[in-house]
Amino acid sequence: MKKIIAIALVLVLALSLVACGAKGATLADVKAAGKITVATSPDFPPFESLENNEVVGIEVEIMKLIAKDLGVEIEFVQMDFDSVLMGIESAKYDCAMSGITVTPAREKNMLFTNPYYNAAQVIVVKADSAVKGKADLKDKTVSVQTGTTAESGCQDEGIAVQAFAANADAKAALTTGKVDAWVVDNLTAMQMVEEGDGLTILEEKMTEEPYAFAFAKGSEDLVAEINKSLTKLVNDGTVEAIFTQFGEAYAKP
Ligand code: ARG
Repeated sequence: MKKIIAIALVLVLALSLVACGAKGATLADVKAAGKITVATSPDFPPFESLENNEVVGIEVEIMKLIAKDLGVEIEFVQMDFDSVLMGIESAKYDCAMSGITVTPAREKNMLFTNPYYNAAQVIVVKADSAVKGKADLKDKTVSVQTGTTAESGCQDEGIAVQAFAANADAKAALTTGKVDAWVVDNLTAMQMVEEGDGLTILEEKMTEEPYAFAFAKGSEDLVAEINKSLTKLVNDGTVEAIFTQFGEAYAKP
């Protein structure tokens, strides 16, 4: 009996070591591999979207310059946004690129580069909606993308949410009248609200929040190296020029 308990204990210990063992790639790992694997949810224009099956957007252009400085290739791996976050927490990928907002809760489970852009959450409603601002959402239901700061932010304010894995479905919930509003990041809202949708973006913002690239814990030296590139690209105006190239106004964090 004692022996069985001892064996069981050893097994539990071994398993928990494996569970905690996932560690982010180091700078040396990435250089040795000759590539950086980047998890992304390309349903988020102008930051990342699909064009002829290729991931394109502002963050793709920034990432290319970062990879050039590292001297490695990029391998994009596509998935839903909540899988991007889970995948980077468990060190399944080297980097996460998805218009990711830096939050204290996320910082407990992953590393972030320096922020490179100051974004905001906005409220999108039907043009004839009675919802004119944040305060009108109290007894309403809003659609959000699963795992986003739109979801956690609305929940924190006691607003009922319907969460969708894909951003387009969160928008469709509003156009089809399933919800009263859609909360989403500002530039993505501007890109996804098209003329003829009958949707408008309210002036009052829900929040302001910085974007950065995320990494698994253990990637400290890789993040430090990437920060050198990113800081340079922000300070010498390259990042702003990329926003301009995509027709967007830049907000430095
Ligand atoms: N900025 C928000 C967040 O970090 C939303 C990001 C959604 N990104 C995406 N690629 N769909 O939670």
